[in-house]
Formats: sequence, C-alpha cells, structure tokens
Amino acid sequence: MAFYSDELIEEVRSANNIVDVVGSYISLKKKGSTYVGLCPFHNEKTGSFSVSDRKQIYHCFGCGAGGNVFTFVMNYENMSFPEAMEFLADRVGIKLPKRSITDEERQKADKRTRILELNKTAATYFYQLLRNDAGKRGMEYFKKRGLSDDIMRAFGLGYSDVHSNDLYQYLKSKGADDAILKESGLVTIDERKGGYDKFWNRVMFPIMDVHNHVIGFGGRVMGDGEPKYLNSPETICFDKSRNLYGLNIARTSKRDYLLLCEGYMDVISLHQAGFDNAVASLGTALTSGHANLLKRYTKDVYITYDSDGAGQKAALRAIPILRDAGLNVKVIDMKPYKDPDEFMKDGKGLFGGESVIEYERRISNAENGFFFEIGVLESKYDLKDPGKKTEFYNEIAKCLSVFTDDMERENYTEAIANRYGIDFSMLKRKVGEILLLNDGKKVNSELKSGTGVKIKKEDGRVVTQKIFLTMLIDHPEIFPSIKELIEPGDFTDELIFKVAMIVFEGLEHGNLNPAEIVSRFETEEEQREVASLFQSEIGNLSSVEEFKAAVKETLLKVKRIASEHRKEGTNDDIRDAMERLKKDREIENRIKNLNLTINEDGGN
Ligand code: GTP
Ligand code: MN
Repeated sequence: MAFYSDELIEEVRSANNIVDVVGSYISLKKKGSTYVGLCPFHNEKTGSFSVSDRKQIYHCFGCGAGGNVFTFVMNYENMSFPEAMEFLADRVGIKLPKRSITDEERQKADKRTRILELNKTAATYFYQLLRNDAGKRGMEYFKKRGLSDDIMRAFGLGYSDVHSNDLYQYLKSKGADDAILKESGLVTIDERKGGYDKFWNRVMFPIMDVHNHVIGFGGRVMGDGEPKYLNSPETICFDKSRNLYGLNIARTSKRDYLLLCEGYMDVISLHQAGFDNAVASLGTALTSGHANLLKRYTKDVYITYDSDGAGQKAALRAIPILRDAGLNVKVIDMKPYKDPDEFMKDGKGLFGGESVIEYERRISNAENGFFFEIGVLESKYDLKDPGKKTEFYNEIAKCLSVFTDDMERENYTEAIANRYGIDFSMLKRKVGEILLLNDGKKVNSELKSGTGVKIKKEDGRVVTQKIFLTMLIDHPEIFPSIKELIEPGDFTDELIFKVAMIVFEGLEHGNLNPAEIVSRFETEEEQREVASLFQSEIGNLSSVEEFKAAVKETLLKVKRIASEHRKEGTNDDIRDAMERLKKDREIENRIKNLNLTINEDGGN
C-alpha cells in the first residue's frame, strides 16, 4: 500500500461511493440506511450481504467477507491494491501521479513482464518448429489425431525438438540470463553442466490467460511414454488454480454456458467441432479459484469429464465446488466413449458422422449435478434389500437438508420423490426432522460441501466485543456517556483493541471514518475482520428502549470479560483483589444506571 500517500488513497476512496460501486456489480435493495443483496463471494439464496452507505463498508453475515471499496474491487475483480487504486481513480476521474513503486515492486513487475516475454518467445519458437522439417513428427502426431491447421493455429500448438538445450541456447542468444530462465520454469539450470530445456521431444500446448498472455505450457509425448503430459511448474505468472485452458477463446463464445473438460485435447477437439465454449483445468483438480473464474463468464457449467471411474470421482469433487460458487451444474454423459475427444472422433462409428448432433443431444439431456450425486450414491446400495433401501432414503433426506433455500429444497425434494417413487410428504417430513434436529448445524451428509465457505466459529467473548464496537459506531452519540466507563484496553482481542484505539480517538475528535480505518490495515484478512467489527449483527431490536438495554448489557459483558482477562494474567494478593472487585462493582452500577440518549435515525 506504500505506493500512494494516505491522503490520496483516502481521496480516491471517498470519491467512490461503495453503494454505487458494489451496485454496479450486484443488485442491491435498500433496507433502512443499509443496502442488502446476494453475496458475490459465496453461494446463497437469501441476502446476507450488506453494504453501508454511512460507514462505506460491506460485510457478509454468511461468509464473513468484508471491507471497504478497495477490498471489494480487489476481491471481485481479482486486482492487486495498486490496480484497484488505478481502477477506482479512473472511475471518478482522479489523476494519479506516476506510481512511485519501490525497487522490490518494480523488480517483481519487471520479472513478470520478462517471464511473459520469454514465454511468448518460447511459444513462437515451438510454433515455428512444428511447422518446419524438424517438427515433422509433431505435425504427423497432431494430424493423426485429426486436428485441422486452423485449430492448431488458434491454440498456438507447437513442438519441442529432440535437442535438450536448443530453447535454452535460443533464449540466451536473445539476452535472457540464467536466473530469469530458471524462474520461468522453461529450463532447469545445472550448476556444472549448464541449462536444460524442460520440454523436449513433445508436442506443445501453450497455456494462455484470458488476456492471451502465454503463462505456461503443457507438453505431450507423441505416443506412449511417461509422463504423458509434462506441465510447466507454477511461476509468478502461472497460478494453476486461477486459470483455465481455453478460456481466452471460450470467454467470447456466443453460447451462454461453459463446458468443463479434463484434458487439453478435449478442449481442442470440442472447439474444432464448434463447441468454442470448452475449457479445462490445468492438469490439477478443480478449485474454488476456478469456480469463481467461471462464474465471471457464466451461470451454467456443464461437466464433460471422462466417463471412467476417475472421471466420475473428479466430477463428484467438482460439483460441490461449483455449486458453492453459485453456479448451476450439469453433468454430460460421455458413454460409451472415454472423453469428449474420443466422442467427437466417434471411432466406433455409432453416430453415423453426426457426433456434433449427438453431443448437442447429450448437452440437452445432461443430468442435474445433484441428481448425479444421488445417482452415484444409489449405486452403493442394494435397493432390493429393504434395510439398505431405508438407509439410502435416509441418506437422500440428509442430502436434501443441505439446501438452505426453502423453495429450492422443496423443489428438489419433489423431484427426487418422483424419481425414486418415494412418497413426497413422507420424504419432506423426514427432511424436516433432520433440519429440526440439526437446527442450523451443518449436516454431515454424503454430499460434502466443496471448499465450502469457511464460517469461522467465533469465541463468544470476541462476538460481544465486536457488537459493542458496532453499537458505538452506529450510535456515536452514546460515546460521551460511556467514555469514562470503558477504555480500548478493555478489549481483550488484539485486533479489536487496535481498532478500538482508533475508534475512540475518532469519537473523541468527532472525525470517525470507518472505511478509512479499514484502509489502515494492510492484509486482506485484517481488513475483512475490521469491516466485520463495524457491521456486527446486533439482532432485531425494535425499540429505542430495547436498544438502550442492549447497549448496557453488552457494555457490562465487555467489562466482565476484561476483568476476567485481567484476573487470568495477575497474581493479586487478596487486598488488591478486593479493591479491584469494589471498583468493578462500582462501574457496573454506573453502567446499570446510565441514562443514554439515542438518535433514532442512527445505525448502519
Ligand atoms: P490424451 O491422451 O492426449 O487424449 O489426453 P487427454 O486430453 O485425454 O488427457 P487425460 O484425460 O489423460 O488427462 C487430463 C489432463 O491431465 C491433461 O490434459 C493434463 O493436463 C493432465 N495430465 C495427464 N497426464 C498427465 C501426466 O502424466 N502428468 C501430469 N502432470 N499431468 C497429466
Ligand atoms: Mn483423451
């Protein structure tokens, strides 16, 4: 955060009203002086996401996301702080001075650019090799796999030849030094023997990000051999869990859903067949980073993984991750073929040259992700055995109870009841019982939530302290009456203590600025925490009297927590302890007798 002065950061922040900025991405409804909407950071059907106009911060009660306008843009747009700063300054027409970045920052940015440059040079090198004599074997291989010249060009396919250091020599001749080459992942440097190419004697698949930068490579042996595919290691340019193969093309597809495959060849074959909306993860399992990336381009994802056991397992892992991100998931049946590539080749001649039409049909008939999960579950039970059948039905009920949205749960219950011929009201009752039994607790069903949204279980003491801070910020008018009864040191949580110091100071001088306080914290984790301090759930307090009572009660609790905490840390003799107890009693009494004035239009 050190690139810009605090004043400039604050200028840009205050010029960008958070309600407008967030409102340009998601739809918000006004509710009092806060705005509420569906959280863009986790999957939900009820709006737990609140944006405060007065405090200029946002907070999600569901997943804990929170922060100010910078945090929001950084998370939503996947930007670094300086990028968010530029974006928001630009949005309101504030001119930024040329970034005075630190040497370290410049080096890192330079390094990124240089590695991207090297990757591009390498991709061009491989591309040309494939298309001249040295690349004959590669070209034959791709032709044998049925790829057209156009598709090879569109995906920038190439070839790394049989020499094990020609690329290394080539890049060196272009002026790259060993250090950067090593970091690019394109070569390995041996202290004594020099540099070796990572890829040789393979057909090459350049991997591009959505901006068409080459960020890494996959290389396949031509024929049998181990490993079948070799992939670039992660580098400062190559984050496997946040990029998808083919998305640079698929993002502009006219189709409004995306096809999710396992392999590079699947993506390429589908594109060649006209399905220009196919993408694949990069030789790794699907992550929530991928799911969020997909969500920027579509609401509907069709899994088109291998039809074998491994593919089914991978689908079972991917479904909850995609669902958690708020995507609709369907699963395409590839049988009797192994994968989309083989499906399109139709080696068994099943589709009479009409594999595209057949694939379209498979897309229309794709199975809902939840049904797919239940179907896999079903195969584990012998339904001819009444005991096993009961177990299976109970398991179904558990799975259904995972849906948090009532209507959605009801619809799924009905559909499942029909599908398995279970009496609807009986199944519904069973689901209801499970919900009641668990009452808010997460059901441990067969259907695991994917990465899940991590809802941190909070210590009650921390919650109390947070609530009190929120009360103070929502109703600064109570500060004069309570300031002699509490001090920042009474907040036992380290972060709350730090924030309380700033808040008390702001209240004392009448210049409290919640969103600016968020900016003072460096890490995203801290910013989220701080925003949550200012936006705790106080509960439904319908009247001013109720609120006053709640303030007193919370303050009492905070004081008690503080005094407990102090006791834990000291070895007072009995007289000191008595003295302290007396003081505590006195303060408690003063709190109980407090006469608070509350502004009714306060809050949020
Ligand atoms: P083809 O045999 O060329 O048709 O491969 P495929 O597209 O059917 O890929 P497959 O389903 O075998 O594997 C899916 C993806 O996993 C590939 O695109 C690679 O990214 C990755 N992968 C496959 N084999 C290996 C391997 O041996 N090592 C590594 N690191 N990744 C692999
Ligand atoms: Mn394949």
